Amino acid sequence: MSDLPPLTAAEIDALQAAAENAAGNAYAPYSKFRVGAALRLTTGEIITGANVENASYGLTICAERTAIGTMIAQHGPSARVDAACVTNLNHAPSSPCGACRQVLAEFMAPDAWIIFPDKARREIKRMRELLPFGFDLA
Ligand code: THU
Repeated sequence: MSDLPPLTAAEIDALQAAAENAAGNAYAPYSKFRVGAALRLTTGEIITGANVENASYGLTICAERTAIGTMIAQHGPSARVDAACVTNLNHAPSSPCGACRQVLAEFMAPDAWIIFPDKARREIKRMRELLPFGFDLA
């Protein structure tokens, strides 16, 4: 089976705009680092999430994982993601954290796209590049 084709500039723009919009809704009073995630489902629908911090810092949920939770709540356990964009309002060149890579991988094919833009450019990687040797029970 061949890889998912490259995303068009318009597709990337749409995902990034959705992620940036979600970042504006983040609850990040402690780190002040507002993150937004946009997931494009295989159906074409876009689902977003933002980080939700807590005074008990370790309870913080990253933007990617709030988006995955929303996706499952709205579409059920067979929903799948073919492209994701993660951005922050500081425009730092931050890629998804290790925990989120593992959670995303459960719902993304190895050839699915992950985009993380910063001020200067946007990195566009395959899931398998960000998480080689992810954990699996099988
Ligand atoms: N954060 C995310 O939302 N996604 C990541 O992949 C890494 C970090 C959030 C968690 C916390 O609210 C803030 O960024 C600073 O770590």
